[in-house]
Amino acid sequence: MSTNPNSPSHREGRLAGRTALITGAGLGIGRACAVRFSEEGARLVLTDIDPINLAKTRALLAPGCEVLVHVADVTEETQVAELFSHADAFGPVEILVNNVGGGRPGRIWDLSVEDWDHTMRLSLRSMFLCTRAILPGMIERGYGRIACLSSGARNGTVWNALHMGACAYSTAKAGVTGFVRDLAIELADSGVTINAVAPGPIDTELAGPFLRAMEEQGLDYSPFRMVPMHRLGTPREVADALLYVCSQEASYVTGTTLDVSGGR
Ligand SMILES: NC(=O)c1ccc[n+]([C@@H]2O[C@H](COP(=O)([O-])OP(=O)(O)OC[C@H]3O[C@@H](n4cnc5c(N)ncnc54)[C@H](O)[C@@H]3O)[C@@H](O)[C@H]2O)c1
Repeated sequence: MSTNPNSPSHREGRLAGRTALITGAGLGIGRACAVRFSEEGARLVLTDIDPINLAKTRALLAPGCEVLVHVADVTEETQVAELFSHADAFGPVEILVNNVGGGRPGRIWDLSVEDWDHTMRLSLRSMFLCTRAILPGMIERGYGRIACLSSGARNGTVWNALHMGACAYSTAKAGVTGFVRDLAIELADSGVTINAVAPGPIDTELAGPFLRAMEEQGLDYSPFRMVPMHRLGTPREVADALLYVCSQEASYVTGTTLDVSGGR
């Protein structure tokens, strides 16, 4: 047996011995989730469309974390199939975080069909493809944790709506809630749980500057004014919620959408 305290056989934590696959792990919440899960002893399969940011995330993981990185566009069926065949060889994967999501803003009366479809592909098709790929193995083994990223936008977000319009994004994020509600019922006897985490405004590399600019411009609907805690959330605060729904402890929690939104 290895005597290295950082070796996988010595690792401890709430996800020790579990393998987790995180999509969009190159930046923001996906990166924070990868780091947080590595601190809890998980083995990781990290995927992103951007190889450079994926490599940066890898460098931030807790020492001793066993990791497989795989570049893929998770909106593409064949690339998702390839991703999961590599993951299975590394796995079995017991935890899936469907983190990829987002969309193109715009007033609905000006929005192109291409922009609408882009938002649905990024936020819903990616989640469908990855969940479909992972479920047969989870069901066969009788254990699984799936977490999907919804958003406060599922109920409409004032700053997004008033600033540029975000109807397509809100539609997609409400869809995430429907997805986990239905699947939780379908999977109730299988040992697999599925939940959503719904962040409020989070200080990620991409969203943070955009959200802070609203406050700097003195806009009435700035998230710093609209959120009761008067601040942005951190990616790590979202990662902590993802850790909970992906842990053994959340065994009686399924079909839930957990807000991480400073009281909004
Ligand atoms: N940041 C926020 O304030 C906020 C708030 C609510 C919900 N969310 C949700 O949380 C999730 C993560 O948000 P974020 O702000 O950290 O995202 P982000 O846009 O900062 O990062 C997403 C990552 O996904 C990767 N990616 C994009 N398209 C991809 C594809 N087709 N295939 C594979 N990888 C792809 C990007 O390269 C990037 O590394 C999203 O679903 C988002 O909608 C974010």
